[in-house]
Amino acid sequence: MTLHIPAPWQELHLPQGPGPILVIGGPDAGKSTFVHYLAGRYLEMGRRVALVDGDPGQSRLGPPATMNLALVEALESGERVRGLRWRRFVGHVSPRGRMLVVLVNAVRLVSMARRQGAETVIYDTSGLIRPAHGGLYLKLSKVDLLRPAALIALRQGQELEPILAPLRSSRRVPVLELPVSPAVRPRDPATRRRYRARRFAGYFARAQTLTVPLVGRAVIPEPAFYPHQLVGLEDRHGFLLSLGIVLSYRPQRHAVELLARPFPMERLDTLHLGDLLVDPRTFEDHRLRR
Ligand SMILES: Nc1ncnc2c1ncn2[C@@H]1O[C@H](COP(=O)(O)OP(=O)(O)O)[C@@H](O)[C@H]1O
Ligand SMILES: [Mg+2]
Repeated sequence: MTLHIPAPWQELHLPQGPGPILVIGGPDAGKSTFVHYLAGRYLEMGRRVALVDGDPGQSRLGPPATMNLALVEALESGERVRGLRWRRFVGHVSPRGRMLVVLVNAVRLVSMARRQGAETVIYDTSGLIRPAHGGLYLKLSKVDLLRPAALIALRQGQELEPILAPLRSSRRVPVLELPVSPAVRPRDPATRRRYRARRFAGYFARAQTLTVPLVGRAVIPEPAFYPHQLVGLEDRHGFLLSLGIVLSYRPQRHAVELLARPFPMERLDTLHLGDLLVDPRTFEDHRLRR
C-alpha cells in the first residue's frame, strides 16, 4: 500500500498534553492507517509511543474479539508494529452488547501504557459511532473516562456530527478535525469476515490442545461451555494469557479441553466466555445465540 497523506495531516500540530490521543471515525475512515502515521510522527520526535487498538472487529495489534496495547519499538513495513503487547478480552467482534467491558478495557490498557513509561498513547477506536447503536455514549464516555489530550476526528459527510457537535462546544477535550483520505478502500462484510478468519488462524497457528482444570478458577458468566465457543483465559488482573476455543467440556472431571496457545497455567484466574463461536479448522466466526 502506498500511503496517501492529505495536506491537513502533514500540517497537524501534534497534541502534547497529558492524556491519550483518541482517534475516531466511522467504519473505513482510515483510522488505523492514520494512527500508524501519527505514531511515526511522534517516534520521529523521540517520544516513547504506545498504541491502543480498541477495535475488537478489525483488530490490527491482536486477534479479533480482543483489545490490545503495544509499546512501540519500531514501525515495520506492512503497517506492522514491533513491541511488547498486553491484551484484554472482549468476546465479541463489535463493542455492541459489551460496552462496559470495552470501556473498562480502554481504561486498563491506557493505564498500563502509562505504567510502562509511554509518553504518548494513541488510541484507535472502533467504527461504532451511530447513536442508535450506542456509539454516541460510547465515545462521550471514553472522553469522560480517559480525559484525552485531544480527540482527532476523521470526517466524511455528516456521520460524526452527533458526537462532534457537543464536543466542539465543550471544553472537555480539544477537537481536531481531519479529512478522510480518498485512498481509503472500504471493506464489505465478507471481506471483514475473511480478515477475522485470517487473524484467528494466525493466532491459533501456535495453539495446542490443552486440558484446563476448573477447580479454583472463575468462569464468567457461568460454566456452560458450547463447542467452539471463544474463551478468554485471563490472569488475576484481567489481562489475557491466551485465547481459547472450546473443544469439549468434561463436567465430571471439572475440566475443559481447549485449543489455546501454551501459557503458564498457574497464572490462570478466570475463564471469560465470549459470544462467539470460532471454527477450529476454518477459523470463521459466528455469533453465539444463547
Ligand atoms: N491514507 C491512506 N492511504 C492509502 N490507503 C489508505 C489510507 N487510509 C486507509 N487506507 C486503506 O483503506 C483501508 C481501510 O483503512 P483502515 O485504516 O483500516 O480504516 P479503519 O481503521 O477506519 O477501518 C485499508 O486497506 C487501508 O490500507
Ligand atoms: Mg481500524
